[in-house]
Amino acid sequence: MRIRTFDEYQAAYQKSVEDPEEFWAEIAQNFQWRKPWTKTLQWNFDEPNIKWFVGGKLNITENCLDRHLAERGDQPAIIWEPNDPNDAGVTLTYRMLHDQVCRFANVLKRNGVVKGDRVCVYMPMVPELAIAILACARIGAVHSVVFGGFSAQSIADRINDAQCKVVVTADGAYRGNKEVPLKNTVDDALIGCPSVQKVIVLTRTRTPVSMLKGRDIWWEQELKQVTADCPAEEMDAEDMLFILYTSGSTGKPKGVVHTCGGYMVYAAYTFQNVFQYEENQIFFCTADIGWITGHSYIVYGPLASGATSIIFEGTPTYPDCGRFWDITDKHNVNILYTAPTAIRSLMGFGLEKVENHDLSSLQVLGSVGEPINEEAWHWYDDHIGKNRCPIVDTWWQTETGGILISPLAGITKTKPTYATLPLPGVQPILVDESGKEIEGNGVSGNLCMKFPWPGILRTTYGDHERCRQTYFATYPGLYFTGDGCLRDEDGYYRITGRVDDVLNVSGHRIGTAEVENAINMHTGVVESAVVGYPHDIKGQGIYAYVITDQQPSDHDADLTKRDILATVTRVIGPIAKPDKIQFVTGLPKTRSGKIMRRILRKIAEGDTGNLGDTSTLLDPAVVDEIKAGAI
Ligand code: WTA
Repeated sequence: MRIRTFDEYQAAYQKSVEDPEEFWAEIAQNFQWRKPWTKTLQWNFDEPNIKWFVGGKLNITENCLDRHLAERGDQPAIIWEPNDPNDAGVTLTYRMLHDQVCRFANVLKRNGVVKGDRVCVYMPMVPELAIAILACARIGAVHSVVFGGFSAQSIADRINDAQCKVVVTADGAYRGNKEVPLKNTVDDALIGCPSVQKVIVLTRTRTPVSMLKGRDIWWEQELKQVTADCPAEEMDAEDMLFILYTSGSTGKPKGVVHTCGGYMVYAAYTFQNVFQYEENQIFFCTADIGWITGHSYIVYGPLASGATSIIFEGTPTYPDCGRFWDITDKHNVNILYTAPTAIRSLMGFGLEKVENHDLSSLQVLGSVGEPINEEAWHWYDDHIGKNRCPIVDTWWQTETGGILISPLAGITKTKPTYATLPLPGVQPILVDESGKEIEGNGVSGNLCMKFPWPGILRTTYGDHERCRQTYFATYPGLYFTGDGCLRDEDGYYRITGRVDDVLNVSGHRIGTAEVENAINMHTGVVESAVVGYPHDIKGQGIYAYVITDQQPSDHDADLTKRDILATVTRVIGPIAKPDKIQFVTGLPKTRSGKIMRRILRKIAEGDTGNLGDTSTLLDPAVVDEIKAGAI
């Protein structure tokens, strides 16, 4: 399964293209199957209908836990680093994690959860979050983790879309010097969620919470009622493992569906190869488990590989901006996987808090979630990796399940800002607007994939047609990523950013339509248009043009802006708050009523000299007004 040289990479790549079924079948042998598959791959991208390891039976938790017990039962599986560095952390060996997963799986069962049921998980970054999702997988329930920063409304939308039966949450969460009232938010959400029968509440902050009789139960109390004996449910390779909601160009987030067999194989294969993981190394991924990066590279990839994975509850700047380096030093982290936005924000604090820590344990550095700019790449390389740790710039998406384009650490020659080459099994293709392939090197286009890999999404929950429309209809026969991409003279890939109406703010995906819908819910707002603009730390900032029914005075404008921010926070969550709001009296629209976002983007970028062709606008004068008022 492990590639060790560039020649081996090339050979593996070639084989994966010539005989993908044989290639993945060999890799899948490295896992524990209850029953072997009969056909490795069945697929078409038209419906789409994609099945890997057809007929194979397994349980992913047997692969992540049980099979490690004999050999490495006493090795740490999870090291938990709490928000406050002075609090005691937790280390769970594989044996302890297995025990706790089985116990919590029994708690779920006791509360009526059966195979196929959906469970919403809204929790802080504590070991119990990993335990909860593995417990779902143990009994064949489908987890839907909602990031702890989302609002009650967002939770409710996700719960209702998936018809979740149970919610697992905590009283509250610590994030830096803040205490976040999770259970309160869940309570607000559940006013509109008739499918939810039980809420299991973990104690974390001891915040007072209301516990509704018959519905709300304490995690700790429940655990007293169960044993640690919970045989794993036999799952079909194509049974659903989890749903994870992500933003697209329409207003409503989509529930991306991953299945048991293919996702497991792909998460573990990419984990081991991209990071060149070696036995006993300590892996620290700083993402939140509420995002795909945490699913694949805190939980499933590392555990399926028998690795030791760190779960960090806090933030990079609490109690000070040296926290990542403190953790690296304290736990002798060998592989650090973080986001460009974190690197850029830490760069701003200078080197003092870097240099007072011993970072010599580091061997590999990773980047994920957004394009990494050259300056951040070099800072990471010089000051964190001390020019001796390869940097893997990993490109992938919620929909891809795992990394698709990335260097293999220490094997692929890196180049700042380039994700470099496709992993074995990944067949990228660049196309122009009309879908025609752009061949050769030194070209750019829209990034698509022409062949499935085991981790590709199977559907969007409850709406297969939407999955087809979004990913497989733009360019028939291809999976469309939504990203623009450059392939340089060496055949190296560089992702240039989204080509659709999706923003990437601090590595978080946010749809412009979602933000607009939220703004439009505010009283007095007639219409709005949201675009991204370059932001030094966040990568992209959110710029909102808003029409109100009464043009506010300066004083009122300030208050109204704050009210709009409060509305967006209530509807989506603080991550979607616009950085800039400009009140306008009109938006640049074509005669058919379509907003010309291209113009709004240029103005938001401050590039007003060159707005291109505006002759198709209904009212070109509106552009001058917007230009004059730009922030
Ligand atoms: C962007 C996160 C450039 C891209 C794993 C993609 C990147 C979106 C990179 C997916 C990278 C992710 N370089 N851009 N290394 N990694 N992206 O679903 O636009 O949260 O489409 O998955 O992030 O975001 P998502």
